[in-house]
Amino acid sequence: MSRLDGKVALISGAARGIGGETAQLMAKAGAKIVIGDVLDERGRQTVAAINGGGGQAEYVHLDVTKEADWNAAVNLAVSKFGKLDILVNNAGVFIGKGIEDISMAEWQRLIDVNMTGVFLGTRLCAPALREAAKNSEHGSAIVNLASVAGIVGSQLDPLYSMTKGGVTLFTKSCALEFGRKGDRIRVNSIHPGIIQTDMGEQTFVSRAQRTGTNDTTAVKQTVLSTVPWGRLGVPTDIAKGIVFLASDDAGYMNGAGLIVDGGMTAA
Ligand SMILES: NC(=O)c1ccc[n+]([C@@H]2O[C@H](COP(=O)([O-])OP(=O)(O)OC[C@H]3O[C@@H](n4cnc5c(N)ncnc54)[C@H](O)[C@@H]3O)[C@@H](O)[C@H]2O)c1
Repeated sequence: MSRLDGKVALISGAARGIGGETAQLMAKAGAKIVIGDVLDERGRQTVAAINGGGGQAEYVHLDVTKEADWNAAVNLAVSKFGKLDILVNNAGVFIGKGIEDISMAEWQRLIDVNMTGVFLGTRLCAPALREAAKNSEHGSAIVNLASVAGIVGSQLDPLYSMTKGGVTLFTKSCALEFGRKGDRIRVNSIHPGIIQTDMGEQTFVSRAQRTGTNDTTAVKQTVLSTVPWGRLGVPTDIAKGIVFLASDDAGYMNGAGLIVDGGMTAA
């Protein structure tokens, strides 16, 4: 696995799931971690697990839709650990409703978390990332959680797909803007397939409900049959990719998208 010794990372939505696993793995790779989430108790448990295992982590309440929360998170990273080298824009929500079924309030929440959250994180962490890059041979890094639904269409949640398509291209545009300004901040996206987390389970429930049941056994088999590698993804599959993109090993990767889906979108 790539190393992150001496790096400081801020990960949004890292109380559980892919973000939580990424925090654990980044700590093992040598980074100091700030975990931000709205699930305060779960976030503190994740921090305690990292610190109990010999890592260094801090928790901060971070609602990614709130500018003040982002400022507090960056301040914590800098005051506690001295700088910020890595931002992982991981927080995200999935609604699982069709175009004619979603309410305006649900749509607003989807774009607030999945798009405004990524924009605000990028904007408000940029000064600290730029500063840290001045003392780093390979610069600083942002990793955005997009999705395979940000590359191909989604029959399950076309609006989620719209937000993740936005994240996919925002990633590339950020690479261009930071490059133009000479900021030395690399920006890449990762595109998970179906990963077994709370959100992954939510996608199965949505699929099952479309067929009039809450039993997800049959839909899991159907989804599995679309994965050439023959198994569903687990958080560590994605966390390993995030660690790589954030590390100096990916020092020439910029504006790129890393697909980690067991071959689901290969066809
Ligand atoms: N699980 C999958 O199959 C899958 C597939 C493709 C992409 N993704 C993306 O990966 C990322 C992580 O997903 P996951 O599967 O770990 O989901 P998850 O639901 O397990 O975790 C998401 C985390 O984001 C947090 N969060 C939600 N709203 C927030 C807000 N306003 N501010 C801060 N934190 C907030 C949640 O509290 C939770 O801890 C998301 O961006 C998701 O869209 C997941």
